[in-house]
This record gives sequence, C-alpha cells and structure tokens, in this order.
Amino acid sequence: MQTEHSLIFEDSRKMKSIKDSSIDLVVTSPPYPMIEMWDRQFAAMNPDIGLHLNKGECGLAFEAMHEVLDQTWQELYRVMKNGAFACINIGDATRTIDGRFQLFANHSRVQSKFSELGFDVLPLILWRKQTNAPNKFMGSGMLPAGAYVTLEHEYILIFRKGPKREFKTAEEKHKRLLSSYFWEERNAWFSDLWDFKGARQGTGSLEPRERSGAFPLELPLRLVNMYSLLVDTVLDPFAGTGTTTLAALAAGRNSLGIEIDPAFAGPVKDRIMHSIPQVNMYNLERIKKQIDFVHHYSEERGELKHTNNYFGFPVMTGQEKELKLAFVQSVKEVKENFFRATYFSDGYIQNIDPEQMDLGYLTYDQGVQSRLIFYD
Ligand SMILES: C[S@@+](CC[C@H](N)C(=O)[O-])C[C@H]1O[C@@H](n2cnc3c(N)ncnc32)[C@H](O)[C@@H]1O
Repeated sequence: MQTEHSLIFEDSRKMKSIKDSSIDLVVTSPPYPMIEMWDRQFAAMNPDIGLHLNKGECGLAFEAMHEVLDQTWQELYRVMKNGAFACINIGDATRTIDGRFQLFANHSRVQSKFSELGFDVLPLILWRKQTNAPNKFMGSGMLPAGAYVTLEHEYILIFRKGPKREFKTAEEKHKRLLSSYFWEERNAWFSDLWDFKGARQGTGSLEPRERSGAFPLELPLRLVNMYSLLVDTVLDPFAGTGTTTLAALAAGRNSLGIEIDPAFAGPVKDRIMHSIPQVNMYNLERIKKQIDFVHHYSEERGELKHTNNYFGFPVMTGQEKELKLAFVQSVKEVKENFFRATYFSDGYIQNIDPEQMDLGYLTYDQGVQSRLIFYD
C-alpha cells in the first residue's frame, strides 16, 4: 500500500488545484474570528476588518471575519464528494471592547453557514481542554454579578454533504471492513465529549510564528479513522503545521494540506519526513490499549467471541475481524511538497528498527496469540 500527501501553498478561498467532488473527508481548524492572534491575518484578507476593530465595531468585525471563512466553506462544498464529512474544530472567543466583555459564538455562526450552503448538520463534539491557568476565571473574582464562567472547551462541528455514502462493490465493502476501529475506540470516539489536552504552543522548531494554533495529533487521528476509509483523500484547507497530514499518514489515507503562509513549508516538510516513529507509535498504542482491554474484559466478564484475522487477538465484534492498521515503512519527498509513503505488509512491524523506536515498555507476553513482535 502507498499513500500520497501534497502541501499546497495557496489561499483556500479558491482551491484552484483541487477538482470538483474529489475529497472524501475534510478535517480542519480555521483561524478563530475575534481571537487577537488572528486579527492581522483577517485584516490582510479584508482591510475593513482592521478598520472595524480600530473603531470598536466588534459585531461588524466578527461578521466580516466570518465572511472571509465563508468563502472557504463554499469551496469545500464544491470539492467534497457526495456523502463526504467535514469536521471543523473551532472555539468561541471572548473579548473586551470599549469596556464591554462579550462572547463571540464562532461555532454557531459556522454551523449556520454550513447549513445555508446545503450541508447536513450532524451532532457535534465538545472538546474539553481543561486548563490550570491561574487566569481561567474571568471577571470580578469572589464578588457577585460580574464574573464569567470559564471557557475551557472548543467544538468539533460535523457536517455531511448530501446523503449517506454508499459502499456498493465487494471491494468497497472489504475496504470498509479493513478500515474499522476497535469497539472500545468506538465508545470513546463517538462520545459527544472529548477530554484531552491541547497541543503545546509556541515551542520547538515547528512554529514559524510565535503561536500556530495547532491541534493535538489525537484530534485529526480520531476523525480520520471515524469518517474515512483506507486510501481515501483527506483535505485540510487551513493546514498550519500539517497535523492533519500526519494523521492521514498514520491512518493510511492520502492527504492535501492547503496553507496560505509559505513560512510553514520548511517546518512542515521536516515534520513529515521525521514522522515515522511518532505515527507508528500511535498505532502500537492502539494495539496495546486493545490488548489491555481484552485482559480486563476477559477477567471480569469472560472470553470475547471474535478474533482479529490479522493480529490474532480477540475483539468484541465481528466488524473488527478484518481491522488492519497501517504501519509506515518509508516517507519520501518525490517532488517539491509532494510526499509518498509506503507501508509494511501484513503485520511485519518487527521490521522496524528497534533502535529507532522506543518500544521497551510495549512488551507483549501475556499469553494472547498474536503475530506482532514487540521489542523489550
Ligand atoms: C488554526 S491554524 C491551523 C492549525 C493546524 N490545525 C495545525 O495543527 O497546525 C489556521 C491556519 O490557517 C491558515 N490560513 C488562514 N487563512 C487561510 C486561507 N485563506 N487559506 C489557507 N490557509 C489559511 C493560517 O495561516 C493558519 O496556519
């Protein structure tokens, strides 16, 4: 198996390089309107935004920023296939303008626009990013009638273009089975509340700017596994540090990342070229969690009824029998900003050089038969 990954440095309001109805899944996080770190970028795309902000016209600034994003949302409708999902991670903003503290509900504005464009609105995920920051409580402290509740969550809005995707041919049906996820993952991933930390910001060589607004790899990884099949094409129209590209690589999907700021080119390329240990480790962790689950479940409730054909360990349902994970063998830049990944065939992850991957703690000697080899 091979996958291909393109980085395209252009404005996603007009994705000239992407054909109509060619995308299977969109996973993205735009710049957030009314969050100060994005003011300049929005004002560069529409100078009226800077004027509104200077005059304290926050309602007009909010709307004008969303009108900038609306153009990308409209392009998504063009490039997505019928039945494809779009998952948009966005947070609301709070801001004090002219002494008045207010919430700007980005999530509801984006949801209305998608609905207006003809997408079906689906149940959303609340991503709780708990913080211990001392300034998380806002307003008048312990004195009543002037304090505000914390803002410790973001949204993952979920939309579909047109009716449900159909899997008609035997080949499509088989690919769907290979792309299944574990029962325990279903229980966590398809819950409407996700609870994990945000990505660290402002550190390391991946940050051309002081802050990138990157999401943690876990977020696109879940969404890519939930809403696409092996070798499908995943698009991120606000690619930033390329986190969605890494998720696609880890899940054996093709990807297109569109980013307006060419300063990301070097750092994102480095990130992709050095991604193999990180993405394979993620898949090993998935296996490790499944094996832990099997042990707990069988101790408490008895043996699981089904066996995964590929790994040889028990699984909860018949739908997980063909489940395969894609372990990356090589990543090459075959043309500028165009990468090709190859994958190990049939579970031979023992070919991975143990020197390059710290698998020490993943010893696997608890009696469940499996073709996987873990180093200790
Ligand atoms: C919130 S960040 C995305 C971060 C990304 N999810 C990651 O993990 O690194 C939004 C990105 O969109 C880019 N951007 C803003 N407007 C754009 C446009 N019209 N076309 C393409 N990229 C754009 C910004 O430069 C920024 O890198």
